[in-house]
Amino acid sequence: MITRTTPTSWPEVRHQVAIRRATVLAWWRGAKGEVITLFVFVWLVAATAFASFADRRDWETSAIAPLALGGVIAGAAIVAQAGYLLRPLRDPLGGRAVSTGEISIRPATPADSEAILATIDDVVASANGWDDNVLQVVRKEIRSGGHRGEYVIEDHTGLVVGTIRLDYLSPGPHQPAIGLWLGERGRGRGLATKALLAILVLAAEAGLERCYLGTDADNIAMRRAALAAGGDAISTHPHLLPNGATVSSVWFELLAPKH
Ligand SMILES: CC(C)(COP(=O)(O)OP(=O)(O)OC[C@H]1O[C@@H](n2cnc3c(N)ncnc32)[C@H](O)[C@@H]1OP(=O)(O)O)[C@@H](O)C(=O)NCCC(=O)NCCS
Repeated sequence: MITRTTPTSWPEVRHQVAIRRATVLAWWRGAKGEVITLFVFVWLVAATAFASFADRRDWETSAIAPLALGGVIAGAAIVAQAGYLLRPLRDPLGGRAVSTGEISIRPATPADSEAILATIDDVVASANGWDDNVLQVVRKEIRSGGHRGEYVIEDHTGLVVGTIRLDYLSPGPHQPAIGLWLGERGRGRGLATKALLAILVLAAEAGLERCYLGTDADNIAMRRAALAAGGDAISTHPHLLPNGATVSSVWFELLAPKH
């Protein structure tokens, strides 16, 4: 059920904001080194310029000391704040792996890039709301081997059949949110339910009590898999996809097993 509308309701606007926030944070993740270096450089130039200006005016040349100290403190505050802000960007599952015999899920490595790319077909692209442009970006990211937080799903033969992840940045009302897809060779085998049960085991090991999953209300297979993994449908929201389409999404709450 896809409609192309300009978001007008509050939940839709929140989804847009969440997407923007994710985009900005993703940019910051990639650029924070450069930003901090630039900040330090600008600060040093400003401090030096101020000191020579102060010198010419017979001001205390020692003004450079508090300035430099201020710069160091501000720089440290930025780094500390960035660490705090970036906490949601870290993989909440902490890089663990789990195998149930029928499937296993483990953190993706650069060596998995081609296998992951092979799982992306039209069904996956359309379910994720990726148009050609987004698809190009996704493929480039995967090819570059930067699979932060991405886990591969392998069947019992070791074939990579799809990917699954848990993060705090998925656009949506409930976090941390599970996202997954299965390529053609993995679909229709009941593997989504098994992958969900497996990621819940990892979530429990990481100390999480509950996870969420949102899916298009029309995605019957995903809804059934979420229910089969013990999920409770808790809310329905309009959901903005990367291609600008808005779908009606159903959100499930899934409890991590208790140890
Ligand atoms: C959605 C997806 C993860 C489901 O995984 P799957 O393991 O292939 O799911 P299955 O095909 O085994 O279907 C799960 C259940 O739904 C049922 N089902 C599937 N399509 C159905 C339909 N159109 N009508 C009724 N039941 C349907 C299956 O019979 C199965 O039922 P069961 O639990 O009683 O055996 C997978 O199809 C996929 O990756 N699709 C593309 C990407 C995607 O949609 N990702 C999710 C985004 S939130």
